[in-house]
Amino acid sequence: MEKTLSIIKPDGVSRGLIGEVIRRFEKNDIRVIAMKMVWMTKKQAKGFYAVHEKRPFFESLTDFMSSGPAVVMVLEADNAISKNRELMGATNFEEAEEGTIRRDFATDIEKNVVHGSDSPETAAFEISYFFNAFEIAG
Ligand code: CMP
Repeated sequence: MEKTLSIIKPDGVSRGLIGEVIRRFEKNDIRVIAMKMVWMTKKQAKGFYAVHEKRPFFESLTDFMSSGPAVVMVLEADNAISKNRELMGATNFEEAEEGTIRRDFATDIEKNVVHGSDSPETAAFEISYFFNAFEIAG
């Protein structure tokens, strides 16, 4: 079993998509083994997205991610990382497959509803950014 970090971003929370996103995970045999709502500070958002520090969208992305509450979850499944990425669809919703979360709900490349870890190394960093061992029921 593999673990990955998922975030329902502030646009997903404010638009009432928490239930819909979790329903898609559970329907696809992905288990939620830790979950909480967080309102990140700008500094916390910058720390989370530190790998994108040099990208032109970094300021805007971290403003957006600290603009309201988000739901952070640890997901568990066989191949959880790639399975979650398949369900999310491409970062740019216009390139995402039909039926994916981003294709169905994203409104632009930044407000793309969900985030998911992209590798085992990233997943380990991202899970430990939000959760300690006692908060994960898996
Ligand atoms: P996410 O999977 O959370 O990883 C980085 C985020 O930066 C991405 O989703 C988008 O929300 C945001 N972003 C904004 N502009 C871009 C861009 N041009 N390329 C990639 N990511 C972008």
